[in-house]
Amino acid sequence: MAVQPRGDHQPEPPAQPRGDYPAEPPAPATTVLILNGPNLGRLGSRQPEIYGSATLADIEAACAALASRLGLSVDVRQTDDEAELIGWIHEAADRRLPVVLNPAAFTHYSYALRDALAMRTAPLVEVHLSNPAARETFRHFSVVSAVADGTIAGFGPQSYELAIRAVARLLCR
Ligand code: DQA
Repeated sequence: MAVQPRGDHQPEPPAQPRGDYPAEPPAPATTVLILNGPNLGRLGSRQPEIYGSATLADIEAACAALASRLGLSVDVRQTDDEAELIGWIHEAADRRLPVVLNPAAFTHYSYALRDALAMRTAPLVEVHLSNPAARETFRHFSVVSAVADGTIAGFGPQSYELAIRAVARLLCR
């Protein structure tokens, strides 16, 4: 076996200038956080004439099946608590995870949620089962839309599937 002579190491090449790049490249974003705000845990029995009969578990199953066909995975969560939802948004920003978000009633008034979303580091798609623009006036304005890549509303559970497809496209950019 050839033995390398010691003490003749070449000097390290000079470090390349890094410009504005982050120190570490982001990990590939394959998990999509699907976050749901207040009262969405009651889907199936909550005003089915508006929200349909699918439960959140049904929506989760459909999202998981679609995501796996697109090479993604999903992590579906629901909370009635604004602080918990904001904590998950912070987590998404830190982990550079894309988010599909149904903010439910927080859509219309939570500036704290909007401020958290403004720190996002990956795609964000806002979803609604119903079409808020066709409902009561207080639902016509979203404080979230301006910090999202886009909004999908009015297609029932399919809104979530369309949002996952949108995230997949955004990740390919
Ligand atoms: C909703 C619409 C909101 O106005 C409402 O407060 C919800 C559900 C939807 O999915 O259609 O809770 O986000």
